Amino acid sequence: MGNDVKQQILEILGQAKSLLEDLSLSGTHEIPVIPRAEALPRCELPPGGGGQGAAVLCQRESLEEILTDLGDCRRCPLCEGRKNIVFGVGNPQARLVLVGEAPGREEDEKGEPFVGEAGRLLDRILRAMGFGRDQVYICNVEKCRPPGNRDPRPEEIEACEPFLIRQLASIRPSVIVALGKFAAQTLLRDQTPITRLRGTWKDYHGIPLMPTYHPAYLLRNPAGKQEVWEDMNQVLKRLQQSEDG
Ligand code: URA
Repeated sequence: MGNDVKQQILEILGQAKSLLEDLSLSGTHEIPVIPRAEALPRCELPPGGGGQGAAVLCQRESLEEILTDLGDCRRCPLCEGRKNIVFGVGNPQARLVLVGEAPGREEDEKGEPFVGEAGRLLDRILRAMGFGRDQVYICNVEKCRPPGNRDPRPEEIEACEPFLIRQLASIRPSVIVALGKFAAQTLLRDQTPITRLRGTWKDYHGIPLMPTYHPAYLLRNPAGKQEVWEDMNQVLKRLQQSEDG
C-alpha cells in the first residue's frame, strides 16, 4: 500500500474518531445499523393512509394484499373521475422498479401504467436494457388519473403514497428509478429541478434510487435520451453489482 493511501486512511480514521467523540459528548452512545432488508418503513404509514393495512404492513405483505386493502379506493377526490385504478404491473420479485407520476387517459382506460406513447418509449428503453415488462415492476405515485392530466395535489399524494411505499416494501427491489420531476421530487422530498437531480444516486429508505427524465419529456425533447441512457447504464451497473455482492 502506497504512503498516500495510508495517509488518506489515517485521515479518514481520524475524522471518524472525532465524529464519534462529538456524538458521544452530545449524548449519543449508539449508532443504529439498519439492515438493508429492513430499511423500508414497513410499520410506519402517514396518518390516515394505512387503514386496516397498517397492521399487515409489519408482516411481509404481498402485492395482492395491498391491492385488496386499496379496494375501490375513495380516499381522495380523484376517485370521482377515474375509470380504473392503476395499481402497477410486472414482477412482484423485480429487482428494478420504475415509478412514474400518475395514469393518463390510456392508462385510466386500461388500468395499466405506461400504456400510451410514453409507455411505448419506456418499453423500448427497457428492451435496450435487456428487460421485458414482466421482469421489472412499473407503477406510479398516484393510482388514479388527475383530471386533464394536471399534477397531483398534496392531499391526493398523501392519500395514495402510503400504498406506493407498501408496494416498494413488498417488492424490495435492488434499484428504484424515478421517472420525471414529479416522481423524483415526491419520493425524495426534494424540490431540486430534475435537470440537477437526474443522473446521481439517491437513497430511498436504504434502496438506491436513480432519478431520470420522464419518457413523456423525451417525446418532446428527444435530445434528453442520451442522458436517460447514461442514467440507465448506471442502473444496469448497480444491478450487476448487487447481483455479484
Ligand atoms: N405517465 C406516468 O407518469 N405514468 C403513467 O402511467 C403514464 C404516463
